[in-house]
Amino acid sequence: MVLVSGGTGLVGSHLLYFLLKKGLTVRATHRKSSDLESVRKVFGYFTEDPDPLYERIEWIEANITDIPALETAFDGVTEVYHAAAYISFHPKHFQKLKKANIEGTANMVNLSLKHNVRKFCYVSSIATLGSTLDGSLIDEQTAWDPEGDNSVYAITKYGAEMEVWRGSQEGLDVIIVNPAVILGSGYWNSGSGVIIKMAAGGTKYYTSGGVAVVDVVDVVRAMTELMDSDIRNQHYVLSAENMYYKDLMSNIAGAVGVEPPGSSISKWKIDLFRKLDWLSSKLFRTRRRMLKATVNSMFKVSFYDGSKIGRDLGFQYTPVSETIDRVGKNYIER
Ligand SMILES: NC(=O)c1ccc[n+]([C@@H]2O[C@H](COP(=O)([O-])OP(=O)(O)OC[C@H]3O[C@@H](n4cnc5c(N)ncnc54)[C@H](OP(=O)(O)O)[C@@H]3O)[C@@H](O)[C@H]2O)c1
Repeated sequence: MVLVSGGTGLVGSHLLYFLLKKGLTVRATHRKSSDLESVRKVFGYFTEDPDPLYERIEWIEANITDIPALETAFDGVTEVYHAAAYISFHPKHFQKLKKANIEGTANMVNLSLKHNVRKFCYVSSIATLGSTLDGSLIDEQTAWDPEGDNSVYAITKYGAEMEVWRGSQEGLDVIIVNPAVILGSGYWNSGSGVIIKMAAGGTKYYTSGGVAVVDVVDVVRAMTELMDSDIRNQHYVLSAENMYYKDLMSNIAGAVGVEPPGSSISKWKIDLFRKLDWLSSKLFRTRRRMLKATVNSMFKVSFYDGSKIGRDLGFQYTPVSETIDRVGKNYIER
């Protein structure tokens, strides 16, 4: 029995599809508020008839911070894929992030140890890696910088990784993947879905930053191949390509048939908007839409080297142009 946490998210839903396709018996956690239909919709991107596979998921209601509920989910489990996380860059959410990401991961690790789980795969992020001073590509060797300008999300994902490494010291075989920005379909209002939605909406502007990107299908393929291999207690950056936002947004715009962004917007203008947004949140209690961490990431160039998995497993990434064509088509048909 395979246990998947975060099965209702972008990564988890794709993972469920590919695990079930392999014929595995799969249990997935969800919360009371989870939208299970979004998972069936994701299955529908890969098959005309999603129901037979979807009906095979054994859903179990368990918040990863709720140990008694989680304990039930571990009954008979031999492999764990831990993809659940709270994603926010708002400093106000730090306690909530710590609870879900660090404490939740510690619970997943502790129960895996208790139930003699064979192998544990944790979905971390490139946010837990440091920066290089000379502009060279960031890879698995680029250590976390505790003095760096780290977001609250990054701090808690790093804390979660520490829990997973602690589990490995206590005898659990682990794999950690550190995906770049994940491109996939179906979650248009959160995470990288927002970039796709913005570019597909015909935004006129781009920022000068650059990111590494990877296909969600590659992320789950890498996870399952690493879990099926003899490799253990290793971590892998998953990055197919490094791209400037201008090119990423233009390629998405091209895939959905809208005008690409034509003008660069300067950081001071966005920063001014962020400050007004902050003021409005204080004066009128409006929801903040622009955070310092988000603005910084829009203008920062962070490029990564995701080649280790190719060397260790012969793994090949899907070209990003193919990913964007597929995701763009799904966006048009949504
Ligand atoms: N998307 C990216 O670009 C990206 C890049 C690098 C790394 N990652 C990592 O990849 C993993 C999956 O991300 P995603 O993009 O799939 O995110 P997502 O679409 O936001 O999904 C998050 C999942 O976590 C679940 N979750 C959140 N808090 C939980 C809790 N307290 N207890 C149980 N489940 C909880 C959510 O359940 P509900 O349905 O109930 O909300 C959902 O299933 C995360 O660890 C994230 O840090 C993502």
